[in-house]
Amino acid sequence: MLGVFDSGIGGLTVVREIQRLLPSLSISYIGDSVHAPYGPRSAEEIFQLSLAQSERLLSQGGTALVIACNTATVAAASRLRAHFSPIPIIGMEPAIKPAAAATKSGVIGVCATVGTLQSARFAALLDHFAGDVTVLTRSCPGWVEAVEAGDFETPKTLALLRREIEPLLAAGADTLVLGCTHFPALRSPIQALVGPDVTLIDTGAAVARRVAELVPETGDGALSLARLHRLY
Ligand code: DGL
Repeated sequence: MLGVFDSGIGGLTVVREIQRLLPSLSISYIGDSVHAPYGPRSAEEIFQLSLAQSERLLSQGGTALVIACNTATVAAASRLRAHFSPIPIIGMEPAIKPAAAATKSGVIGVCATVGTLQSARFAALLDHFAGDVTVLTRSCPGWVEAVEAGDFETPKTLALLRREIEPLLAAGADTLVLGCTHFPALRSPIQALVGPDVTLIDTGAAVARRVAELVPETGDGALSLARLHRLY
């Protein structure tokens, strides 16, 4: 069984990609909605929460883990890998490299949590892959909460989206990185806002390909879901 977790329901956008590629794989998913959002929490807090979710998934029979959360990956992936070695632990990070390759205007926008944007790992990604392009970042307050509430296209959510995206468009961004797994759940209103000429990039499909390389597809294709606040 593959264990997948996130701070909430955002990681289900990653599960969808894994299921598309590996329909027979059994997946157990935990969304820690009671502690969402993780974005503003300290790295130590995020590590402790991620540790608890990982232990629960492994105790349920998980043989590999996906951290379906950019914020938890930058805060906790290396410590979790050291702690649970040799269990494969697949993390995710904003798609700076493909965005830098895709942009024609030379300006990309990155929508991610403050925890991701302020991390050393994010700075390293920019150093490695974004030398030739201008990268504008937005921490997108309220977006995670809107997804957690199921408010995908309410007037309030659309106003939150416009507030972050309009400055990116005004600065010439033609490629937007959805660097938080909650944000692909807003893909359709975001795409409607930016129009067809702006490319939206997330890493769900890339993570699914990595899972396919590392995890044998055994199981019955079942998905079990748990919210931590129901379990504790
Ligand atoms: N879904 C998470 C991510 O990919 C974090 C959302 C949150 O702040 O809890 O970064």
